[in-house]
Amino acid sequence: MQTTNRLFFVIIHPKMPIHEKARILEHIEVAPKRFKLVISSLYISTHAQPGQFVMVRVSNELDPLLRRPLGINGIRKDEHIIELLYEVKGKGTEILSKTEVNELLDIVGPLGTGFTIKKEKPFAIVVAGGMGVAPMCALIGELKKQNKKTMVLLGARNKETLLCEEAVKVQGIDCRSITDDGSNGRKGFVSELLNEFLNEMRESDFNTSTIFACGPKEMLKVVAEIAFQKKIECQVSLEEKMACGIGACMGCVVKTKSGHKKVCDDGPVFNANDLLW
Ligand SMILES: Cc1cc2nc3c(=O)[nH]c(=O)nc-3n(C[C@H](O)[C@H](O)[C@H](O)COP(=O)(O)OP(=O)(O)OC[C@H]3O[C@@H](n4cnc5c(N)ncnc54)[C@H](O)[C@@H]3O)c2cc1C
Ligand code: FES
Repeated sequence: MQTTNRLFFVIIHPKMPIHEKARILEHIEVAPKRFKLVISSLYISTHAQPGQFVMVRVSNELDPLLRRPLGINGIRKDEHIIELLYEVKGKGTEILSKTEVNELLDIVGPLGTGFTIKKEKPFAIVVAGGMGVAPMCALIGELKKQNKKTMVLLGARNKETLLCEEAVKVQGIDCRSITDDGSNGRKGFVSELLNEFLNEMRESDFNTSTIFACGPKEMLKVVAEIAFQKKIECQVSLEEKMACGIGACMGCVVKTKSGHKKVCDDGPVFNANDLLW
């Protein structure tokens, strides 16, 4: 009998997300109900861009069935590691918080369209509110790598939930923070820090600056309005409830000036001026 050797080729597009079983290397509660996951992931760490996310399967049971979206908090390409930073909100993240070092985490990624760092824009202003800081850490790392002059503005409910300030400062990056209750010094909203900082800047630098923002929608709306008034480019990362995370279910659409767009695929990062808030 004649045997035929068949060769199958799998062509992976450089932007294509894949499904990985990634080993948990560290899992730490960094603040009440807020966890950092350090996971080993060859493909995703190699291909991820700041602002992209992964869909995490939190349970082997049927409930919860849907994966949960989490922004990529750190990309350590040389070590083949990615980091996730998340808050326990409901059942899915509660189950995730119980996973342990050495377990395999079922993830799909990297997903979505991340931030665009432009050559012609040497100044960056990063604005993060609450857990919106999660994907911004990867962005801040990349801005530093590309020698952008960066100011990081962080806002949180209180001192305990103000994350990543030290991690930013130890890299020698300018950082200011504010909390809703004043428990970390300044009391107020992060948009106030943005207004103040823009007043200190030379107006001639506005058109060579980009504001990158992530946080609650109300905060993003205010940041977008400030950027619009000052004619500064502004990219915002949105959060919507997601079922598939890969552009198939239309469950995450938002209205833009050019029609409905999918947050999981066209975003999560959008030009703030394109959105119909
Ligand atoms: C692109 C993207 C990136 C994200 N990155 C992060 C991250 O880096 N860190 C982090 O802590 N969270 C992040 N989130 C939010 C996170 O996905 C939700 O908090 C999580 O799915 C809640 O799941 P749960 O089962 O624990 O809660 P559920 O029981 O499903 O819901 C609990 C509460 O969370 C709200 N919620 C559920 N899903 C979402 C969602 N997709 N977006 C916003 N609110 C939601 C519900 O309205 C409800 O009030 C991201 C969301 C998106 C869309
Ligand atoms: S979550 Fe299914 S299309 Fe975006």
